[in-house]
Amino acid sequence: MSKNKLKKFAEMAQMNNVFELPLQSILQGERCDLKGFWRKNFFKNSNPLTLELGCGRGEYTVGLAKLFPEKNFIGIDIKGARMWSGATQANALGLTNAAFVRTDIGNLGAFFAENEIDEIWLTFPDPQMKKRKKRLTSTGFLQNYRNILKDNGLINLKTDSNFLFTYTKELIDKNSLVVKTEIADLYSDEIFTQRADLQIKTCYESQWLARNISIKYLQFILPKNTELQEPEIEIEIDEYRSYGRQKRSELNFSA
Ligand SMILES: C[S@@+](CC[C@H](N)C(=O)[O-])C[C@H]1O[C@@H](n2cnc3c(N)ncnc32)[C@H](O)[C@@H]1O
Repeated sequence: MSKNKLKKFAEMAQMNNVFELPLQSILQGERCDLKGFWRKNFFKNSNPLTLELGCGRGEYTVGLAKLFPEKNFIGIDIKGARMWSGATQANALGLTNAAFVRTDIGNLGAFFAENEIDEIWLTFPDPQMKKRKKRLTSTGFLQNYRNILKDNGLINLKTDSNFLFTYTKELIDKNSLVVKTEIADLYSDEIFTQRADLQIKTCYESQWLARNISIKYLQFILPKNTELQEPEIEIEIDEYRSYGRQKRSELNFSA
């Protein structure tokens, strides 16, 4: 591991807004002390709680926390070096309504209790075109979210990927879920100027915009007690791929 990463990990271990549990402990049944008590024991309020899953540098967690001081936000990612940026910024800004959890999204149940979460943001997840089960809007993940999300909680998806946008819309149709907002080209839509939350720009979002790829947005309601089914359709594959580490670092987009 690079010196820079080690330094970031050491700094994060001292931060009061970053939480993690060793995977081994989770597998042995250990649970985060704050599970079920985030509002009471960490945020010290009873405000709604939103998660950003796959938060990367945490632009949405920090940006939403600034915009909505009457709500609480937690960014989740497996990559600590990226999360360091958001956690450091949140501390520098004195944000008491933002926190970060370093874990795999598959382990949400170790950190959050049933109905503890009000809303979820998925910001530019990998479309996982070949591996349906790894897509963050697939039925397995949605079921995982329903274990911690209140009934009829909101899911927000911001993506560059036409593949993931189409897949998620088909899944919504198949399961008769209610869509609150659907925008195929966010930056050309008038809603963009009206909603400050949609104007928060992530690191990956900047990459896609620089390549003239349109940004898509979906917001839908996830009810608790319905059986979720996968759509059975062929979806056109995206023609482009995310830049690798080398190219990202040349363009100054790397974590
Ligand atoms: C394409 S990046 C997007 C990062 C950020 N949201 C942005 O827009 O710049 C996807 C992020 O999701 C994280 N991620 C992917 N699968 C994950 C999982 N199962 N658990 C936790 N994080 C995950 C990756 O580590 C990565 O930071």
